Amino acid sequence: MIKVENLTKRYAGHTAIQDLNFEVSQGEIMGFLGPNGAGKTTTMRILAGFMPPTSGRASIAGFDVFAQSLQARSHIGYMPENVPLYTDMRVTEYLNYRAALKGVPHRRISERVGDVKELCGVKEVERKLIGTLSKGFRQRVGLADALLAEPDLLILDEPTIGLDPNQIRQVRELIKNLGRQHTILLSTHILPEVEMTCSRVVIVHKGRIEACDTPENLLGKVRQAGGVELEAKVGTDNGEEQLKKIPGVRDVVADGDADWKRFSLRVESGADVREEVFRLAVERRWAVRELTQRRGTLEDVFVELTHPDHV
Ligand SMILES: Nc1ncnc2c1ncn2[C@@H]1O[C@H](COP(=O)(O)OP(=O)(O)OP(=O)(O)O)[C@@H](O)[C@H]1O
Ligand SMILES: [Mg+2]
Repeated sequence: MIKVENLTKRYAGHTAIQDLNFEVSQGEIMGFLGPNGAGKTTTMRILAGFMPPTSGRASIAGFDVFAQSLQARSHIGYMPENVPLYTDMRVTEYLNYRAALKGVPHRRISERVGDVKELCGVKEVERKLIGTLSKGFRQRVGLADALLAEPDLLILDEPTIGLDPNQIRQVRELIKNLGRQHTILLSTHILPEVEMTCSRVVIVHKGRIEACDTPENLLGKVRQAGGVELEAKVGTDNGEEQLKKIPGVRDVVADGDADWKRFSLRVESGADVREEVFRLAVERRWAVRELTQRRGTLEDVFVELTHPDHV
């Protein structure tokens, strides 16, 4: 559905994205992650036909987003980062206007607008001026707008930004449901959202792709290289130093009061040091109230791949 090949965009000397390559198949929900300034919006704007790339190609449903912009766009519903809504229009009026603009046939407009209002939960505010809506409802109107022309592909640039936790849940559910009938490319900073909704994830950092895989596989990597948490009373021992000597332990961070200490052990990929930690505790007569293998999260993957000194 989406094919991106060697896509590069430079703004006046600054390279926003460099040599991006990825594909999104029909029916996938693809998460698009990266820190601020990574190039997510730039990529999405190019895909939606709002600006040309400096070099490389991108196509939607086989149509080049630049050379065959009209055909490519007819497959896309795009929800930009800052939804540009007309604040002095009422919700229904705005959606009618947008539907006409998108070429929805006249006789079908009212039915279609009714459908998207229902789907996105904006019926209760349909008569309100957009300018008076809360942020969450504006986002929903933006999403309703993106759905008007029944696109196969939704490109959603941070659809849940600025929403409260309840609204985030609702929009997440909505996106999940939309994923049954649409292909979706979704950028977000909320990682649990990605774990819950996306079939695959691209992580970009400084304009380059750092990883492209299923959430499970990405998590598999951090779980292997995961860590161990130990909470123990080590008395006068220097627990940190002793734990560091265990083969397979890369690093130990200690925390807590003089009595109970919490040790976070970072271990080498594949190593399970719990048994050795237990032996050490017995040998040194430490009281232990927790010894667990920490489950890696997508956040660990994200931080590992995109922290500032990552090269
Ligand atoms: N119109 C522009 N002119 C010059 N530089 C730009 C322009 N738009 C974006 N950039 C730069 O391109 C880089 C990528 O920006 P982009 O908006 O694509 O990032 P992003 O991943 O969407 O970030 P965020 O998470 O903050 O939305 C940034 O360094 C940004 O400053
Ligand atoms: Mg952005």
